[in-house]
Amino acid sequence: QTGKFTFDPGFTSTASCESKITYIDGEEGTLLYRGYPIDELAENSDFIETAYLLLHGDLPSGEQLDVFRGNITYHTMVHEHFKNFLNGFRRDAHPMAVMCGAVGALSAFYHDSTDIHNPEHRIISTHRMIAKMPTIAAMAYKYIMGQPFIHPRNDLHYTENFLRMCFAVPAEEYEINKVAASALDKIFILHMDHEQNASTSTVRLAGSSGANPFACIAAGIACLWGPAHGGANEAALRMLMEIGTVDKIPEYIRRAKDKDDPFRLMGFGHRVYKNFDPRAKVMKKATHEVLEALDIKDPMFAVAKELERIALEDEYFVEKKLYPNIDFYSGITLRALGFPTDMFTALFALARTVGWIAQWQEMLEDPNQKIGRPRQIYTGADRRDYVPINAR
Ligand code: SDX
Repeated sequence: QTGKFTFDPGFTSTASCESKITYIDGEEGTLLYRGYPIDELAENSDFIETAYLLLHGDLPSGEQLDVFRGNITYHTMVHEHFKNFLNGFRRDAHPMAVMCGAVGALSAFYHDSTDIHNPEHRIISTHRMIAKMPTIAAMAYKYIMGQPFIHPRNDLHYTENFLRMCFAVPAEEYEINKVAASALDKIFILHMDHEQNASTSTVRLAGSSGANPFACIAAGIACLWGPAHGGANEAALRMLMEIGTVDKIPEYIRRAKDKDDPFRLMGFGHRVYKNFDPRAKVMKKATHEVLEALDIKDPMFAVAKELERIALEDEYFVEKKLYPNIDFYSGITLRALGFPTDMFTALFALARTVGWIAQWQEMLEDPNQKIGRPRQIYTGADRRDYVPINAR
């Protein structure tokens, strides 16, 4: 059943929900955004068009796309006092710590779009969230690099603007790398939404209480940061770098299968996909294309491909239905585009903001929407009377 509440004792039940946005078939390895296959969107669409699709339900006409693009572009700048907020972080702050704090603080700067019962406020906060995430992510990167913030420009495409805000320096002209922009568009599309994953469920639960959209997205960022979730792209590349060479792979495969060893293959396995993650296929192809186009020889790609080959022939992984997920190859591509490892999850959050906001909107537009309240199975002590301390 798609969307209906299902309780499976083998699966920690969380309140499920009905949604029209994303469909996943874990056995078939199917992922559809509003009915469109993810590989077709990744190959043919771009960030703004797919964002429109997720938010509005259909692909836009040329005019609708221009209006939407203009609305997003109009909101890309952040309040000038926002810099003071960022300057409060330690220079070695993890970008996800900055994103968590900064996005949560947005409601203090944009309280004129926080009334979730006002449809106008919801539209403006949606545009502001999608528009300002690249600016904030780029500021987080520039801050830890010790470089000046670069303002967004209105004449650049969304992803090009982001690359320029990250990598331009005032001392010289910055030339947009079209290969990098196209690859990043594809990566962002792959990461945009994924049904009721942990961070999206977090955003819905926070939103169900009436919390302002910026606070809800900050809650999603916090949840995504975990290495079992969005933090896996950073963890997967660090794992590949720790393995280092192909001949070390068997030792790590052994460790991943050892119940007494907490080591897991990062970028492998999935709560839902028990066949293959369709995004991983597109990601692997994109990685190969980017490395070729930028003429980068990254030894980690060879280690990743060999690790995947060995694992997929190993009965432990086959029996437990463990396949590469989207995080297995994405780090190699992001590193090739010039991003440091600790920016990877921030980029995941940038893209997933579209899905979080679309799901948040869908929940608030449901006339029967109530505050989320997952229940529990109580396994604690029976009722008992208080015992004074001198009698314990
Ligand atoms: C994302 O939900 C989403 O949609 C998430 C996401 C999205 O777009 O929002 O797709 C993004 O989070 C992808 C997943 C990224 N995380 C990782 O790559 C981290 C490494 N993977 C695992 O930690 C793990 O696979 C999970 C967290 C993804 C799923 O964990 P589960 O639910 O425990 O996996 P499972 O129930 O399918 O596990 C089956 C068995 C278990 O062993 P047993 O208890 O049956 O003995 O396989 C084992 C697990 O211990 N296992 C692994 C493993 N993943 C699961 N063993 C070794 N290496 C792994 N990676």
